[in-house]
Amino acid sequence: STDKRLDRVKETVAAIPDFPKKGILFRDLFPVLTFPDVFKGLISLMSEYVKDAHPDCEGIIGLESRGFLYGPMIAQELNVPFVPVRKKGKLPGELVQVTYQLEYGTDTFEMQKNSLKPGQKVVIVDDLLATGGTMAAAVELVQQVGGIAQCGLVVIELVDLKGREKIQGTVKSFLQYS
Ligand code: PRP
Ligand code: ADE
Repeated sequence: STDKRLDRVKETVAAIPDFPKKGILFRDLFPVLTFPDVFKGLISLMSEYVKDAHPDCEGIIGLESRGFLYGPMIAQELNVPFVPVRKKGKLPGELVQVTYQLEYGTDTFEMQKNSLKPGQKVVIVDDLLATGGTMAAAVELVQQVGGIAQCGLVVIELVDLKGREKIQGTVKSFLQYS
């Protein structure tokens, strides 16, 4: 690629066959976090993208679990609020809820009703886009609480699963795998 920071990430990502189920090639980003300079480079790359593409971004939404590794760091870099989307039963207060399919099962996501102000512009962060069910559910939740999803931001996109076709609006990925 044209960016050394992305080359370092690409070299560091692991691929594990048949995890968590037979036939799934699991792309593991945790090795990136074992190299502080590589992780820092990835966060700066993602933050710069948001600054350039969405300079009016007013918040970062992070998706449990692995979106929590990247979202808060990007929010800090941009000096905007971080707001979590969590698996069901974890968040207190009044909630909105969406059930979704993923590459290897189904799950339910929740968000607090008062977590965004009306019309707040946000970018939704996760580690990886597979079938797109997770990101599509998050876009729906953001809309339900009155926010505006500017884009979905992921490190890895599994392009053959065509996840981006399921999502209203744009998705930005940094590494694409077949
Ligand atoms: C993984 C990944 C994404 C999602 C992508 O999370 O971190 O959130 O799957 O899949 P999709 O595009 O097919 O919806 P997972 O549900 O395994 O949970 P975790 O982050 O808690 O490990
Ligand atoms: N989440 C959904 N599909 C995945 C995959 N193939 N690798 C890592 N995380 C995933």
